[in-house]
Amino acid sequence: VDTKAGVKGLVDAGVTAVPAIFHHAPDSLPVLQQAAADGDTVAATIPVIDLSCARREEVVRAVKAAAETVGFFLVVNHGVPGGLLAETLAAVRRFNEAPAEAKRPYYFRGNARKVTFNSNFDLFQAPAANWRDTLFCDVAPEPPRPEELPEPVRHVMVEFSGAARELAERLLELLSEALGLARDHLREMGCAEGVGVASNYYPPCPEPHLTLGTSRHTDASFLTVLVQDGMGGLQVLVDGGGGRRGWLDVPPMPGALVINIGDLLQLVSNGKFRSVEHRVLANKSTARVSVAAFCSADVIRSTRVYGPIGDPPLYRSITIHEYLAHFLKKGLDGQLGRHTLDRFLL
Ligand code: SIN
Ligand code: FE2
Repeated sequence: VDTKAGVKGLVDAGVTAVPAIFHHAPDSLPVLQQAAADGDTVAATIPVIDLSCARREEVVRAVKAAAETVGFFLVVNHGVPGGLLAETLAAVRRFNEAPAEAKRPYYFRGNARKVTFNSNFDLFQAPAANWRDTLFCDVAPEPPRPEELPEPVRHVMVEFSGAARELAERLLELLSEALGLARDHLREMGCAEGVGVASNYYPPCPEPHLTLGTSRHTDASFLTVLVQDGMGGLQVLVDGGGGRRGWLDVPPMPGALVINIGDLLQLVSNGKFRSVEHRVLANKSTARVSVAAFCSADVIRSTRVYGPIGDPPLYRSITIHEYLAHFLKKGLDGQLGRHTLDRFLL
């Protein structure tokens, strides 16, 4: 097996059983979802917000309600051309489905490169590996040189991340208003000055009940803008009432974008906006593609201190470096049941 050919390489080599390193603990696997289906239905849906709505107060109200509850929402009429989204997904598919030799030069662990390709960035911290391959690029504020990007994604990567960042800035205006702040408050804090893009490819899995595409985690961003293809599998852990929690599907919706609140926005909103755990199921039949733009401060150079807006503060003030050091050390699913941000509670 070519260890630099990713999970796709295993599938191409013809594995019919999921190797033990990918086996997740039974309580992490989709049994919870079945429990929810057997009567414990979760009375919630992911809100869909139309950004072309002329009544701004209405949009602010909808964004606020979503940010304070499920922490996820879908946006439509968001201004990012459907053609760009389709091209971005297709380009990521082309990169991943190219021969292994074309991907090998990008294979790298660690953050010393702008563009890296690997399966599990947190392999050595994670209790189990995930059934996905990820091409990660730091795109803003300093884009990679074109030749640093694999040919199939060279043009769309910069275009997609630019559009995602613009959208994030618009959403930050709505979210600022939702907090009772001046419209440009969160943008001026640099909450979308940096963008890292994770292009995910989830190969078909011979035994999807034993593993996950992405284990449960919260995002290390302020705000995440995600495009997913039509496969589905992304789920959010929501309150079902009466202290019960259950997994809720984020349904594929052609042309829509998925937006979610990241840990850093939960921190600066003093816990008002929620960075909610989510995961991706593995599936047996078809490869799935998603592309996430993580909007944050300049993760390389930022020395700014971010603290809660609100009294009394729930969290202590931290730098992006301090937060990321904790996130990277703990891995994606660190300690189940404990929110990544708990570490910074006062
Ligand atoms: C993630 O949350 O890291 C991945 C989301 C997705 O693939 O839909
Ligand atoms: Fe995520």
